Amino acid sequence: MILDRWNSAYFDGRLSPAVLAELAALTDASPDAQALADRAFRLMRRARVGAADFSGLTAWMIGFSAPRTVPSAWSGSVPPVTMSGRHGKIDSYVAGNPWHTPVRDAVFVDLGCGFPPFTTIDTAKRLPTWRVIGVDPAFGDYLVYDHAGAYASFAADRRLLYYQAGNYEPDQAATSARFRALLDSLLDGSASAEEGELVRDPVRQYESDNLTLARGGIGEFTVDGGADVIRCMNVFMYFDHPFRERALEWASSVLRPGGLFICGSNWTESVASRYTVYQKTASGLVAREFAFSVENLRPIELAPWYALHDDNLENLANASAVGTIRADDEFRERFDTRMDALLADLGVCMRGPDGYLGGAPEGMPTEELSGLSPVLAARLDAEGFASDAAEVLRAAGYDAWRNHVGHVAMRPVTPPPLEPGLVTGR
Ligand SMILES: C[S@@+](CC[C@H](N)C(=O)[O-])C[C@H]1O[C@@H](n2cnc3c(N)ncnc32)[C@H](O)[C@@H]1O
Repeated sequence: MILDRWNSAYFDGRLSPAVLAELAALTDASPDAQALADRAFRLMRRARVGAADFSGLTAWMIGFSAPRTVPSAWSGSVPPVTMSGRHGKIDSYVAGNPWHTPVRDAVFVDLGCGFPPFTTIDTAKRLPTWRVIGVDPAFGDYLVYDHAGAYASFAADRRLLYYQAGNYEPDQAATSARFRALLDSLLDGSASAEEGELVRDPVRQYESDNLTLARGGIGEFTVDGGADVIRCMNVFMYFDHPFRERALEWASSVLRPGGLFICGSNWTESVASRYTVYQKTASGLVAREFAFSVENLRPIELAPWYALHDDNLENLANASAVGTIRADDEFRERFDTRMDALLADLGVCMRGPDGYLGGAPEGMPTEELSGLSPVLAARLDAEGFASDAAEVLRAAGYDAWRNHVGHVAMRPVTPPPLEPGLVTGR
C-alpha cells in the first residue's frame, strides 16, 4: 500500500489517522497526482516538517486538490489560472528595491501573466509611472461566457484553450464539447443572450494608459528598448530545469543593463512565496537574492510543497532553507509554540491532545481558508520572526536578511537535489 510506504519512508510511520484518511484518496489517483504527493512529502522532510506538524488542511489539499490540478487533469496544458493580489508583495519589492531603480521610461513585463490578467492589472495600478506589459501564450481570440457566467477561451481557429473551473469538472470532454457548441452558435448568431455571451479579442478590455497585453511566451516576445523588470511567476513550476535555463538566456537578451528577472511561485496574497531575483550584468544574469515568506517555516497549506518537477529550484531552495532554520532547536520551539497559539486564535488546524495539528473547521468557506495564511504571515513578520529566521541562517553560514517586503532573504546557493522518490511518474 502506497500510503504505508509513504508513512514509513517520509514520516517515520507516525502520520495521524486523520491525515491518513485524507490521503487515502490518492490510492487510486493518477500517476502524476501520486508523484506530486510523493514530491511534497520529500520537500516536507527536507524542511523538517514532520508527522505532528502535518495539518489536516494540508492533507485534504493533497488528497482532494492535487489530483484535480496536476497536468493530466488538464490534458497536459498549463492553466492560465491567476488571482488578484497574488503578487502584491512582488510589486512592492520592485517599487522599493534598494539596489535597482530604473533610469528612464521604466518597463515591466509580466510573463505568463494568466487570464484574466489580474496580477498585471494590479501591477499597472501599483506602478503608475511604469509601462506594464502582460504577455501570455494562452490569450484567446474568443471568450465565451455560459449562462452561469463560467468562461472558456478559444483561438481564432476555434481551438479550445481553457475553460474555467476545469479542475473540478467531472466530465471534461462533455464540458469542452458544450463550450465549443456554444461558441459555434454565438458566432453564427443562433444562440440567445440568455444562453451565453461572446467577447472578441478579450484582452483589449483590460488594457489601460500604462497597461498593454500581448500574446507570446518565453523566447517568443521582445520589447523595443528592453525591459527593466520581467516577472515570471507560477510558470517554471510546470517545466523542467532545461526549460528554465533557456528562459534565463532569453530573459537576459530582453532585459536592460541592471534589469531584474523575478521567478518563482506565490499563492494567494503573496503567501507560500518563494522566488529568485536575477540581475542583468555585463556577463549575463546573476542570481542576487532568494526569498520566501515566513509562514513557509511551518505552513498549514499544500502550496509551498506543490511541485510538478523534482528539479524546481525555488521549491528546493525553500525546503532547504526552512530545514536549516528548523534545525535550530531554540528558534523552532519558539516559532512552533507561537504558530500553535496563532492557529488556536484563528480556530484552525489547532493542535489536539494527541499532539497532532488538526484541520479546518467543517464547512469553512474557501475564501476564508485562503485568508488564513496572509494573516499568519503578517503576524509572524510583525513579531520579528522573519528577521530572526534570517539570523538563524546567518549563524548557519549563509548571507541572509529580512528583505524590504518582510520576506526571509538570502544570497542564493545551489540546494542539493531532491532524493529519488517512491513513485515514478511526472
Ligand atoms: C498558473 S498560470 C500563472 C499566471 C500568473 N503568472 C500568476 O502567477 O498568477 C501559468 C501561465 O503560464 C503560461 N505559460 C505556459 N507556457 C508558457 C511559456 N512558454 N511562456 C510564457 N508563459 C507560459 C500559461 O499560459 C499560464 O497562463
